[in-house]
Amino acid sequence: MGHVITVAQQKGGSGKTTLAVNLAVGFAKAGKSVALMDTDPQGSAGRWFMTRMEAMDTPDIEFSTASAWGVTYEVRKLADAHDIVIIDTPPKADSDLRPALRASDLVLVPVATSHLDLWAVETVLYLADRERKPAMIVMTRNRAGTRLAADVASKAAELEAQVAQVPMANRVVYAETLGQGRAALEAPKGPAHDEVKRLVAEVQATLENL
Ligand SMILES: Nc1ncnc2c1ncn2[C@@H]1O[C@H](COP(=O)(O)OP(=O)(O)OP(=O)(O)O)[C@@H](O)[C@H]1O
Ligand SMILES: [Mg+2]
Repeated sequence: MGHVITVAQQKGGSGKTTLAVNLAVGFAKAGKSVALMDTDPQGSAGRWFMTRMEAMDTPDIEFSTASAWGVTYEVRKLADAHDIVIIDTPPKADSDLRPALRASDLVLVPVATSHLDLWAVETVLYLADRERKPAMIVMTRNRAGTRLAADVASKAAELEAQVAQVPMANRVVYAETLGQGRAALEAPKGPAHDEVKRLVAEVQATLENL
């Protein structure tokens, strides 16, 4: 059975889809067999994948969608066939999220560096905890060196979840590549390459130590 990662955060626009697709490509480039599942009716990850398919002959990632309660069966199938299954979820934290949380080994909670994002984290952490699933906060759209980044990071550290050592910085390349059905690792080499590789390694190490 492969590992299942759910990306969840009640706050809209926190970077769930960006994190999900960049990890998917990151794990694929690290030699893993990867499936991405979109459970968000907005279908952003699905649009990303369709755009990717148009540009690519052979898909390197499997893609699937499922509605809330269809997730359980679909994830099982994908995890049987792949090393890593990444589930992108809608911006809400309610009982619809439960099947994805229940099916996952690790819950990643992106926090775009703002207090608003941080305030929204607690509901997902509570739901993950209720399913006894470990959660890891990932700082996104991070502006290193700012007082805000330091303040949000220190408040995040007080929460009942591990905080990823590698934050995703605020970089145009993430927004740009997403719209092209690609990921930052597929753009010309820049600081985002190292960032995504280190984040993939950290998530991998976390999965191995569960
Ligand atoms: N690290 C980043 N650097 C720059 N822009 C980013 C970063 N992460 C996300 N964005 C941008 O922020 C916006 C929201 O990101 P994204 O769609 O990934 O969030 P989301 O949590 O999936 O949103 P929703 O809640 O609507 O599903 C997008 O325009 C995306 O390109
Ligand atoms: Mg999204």
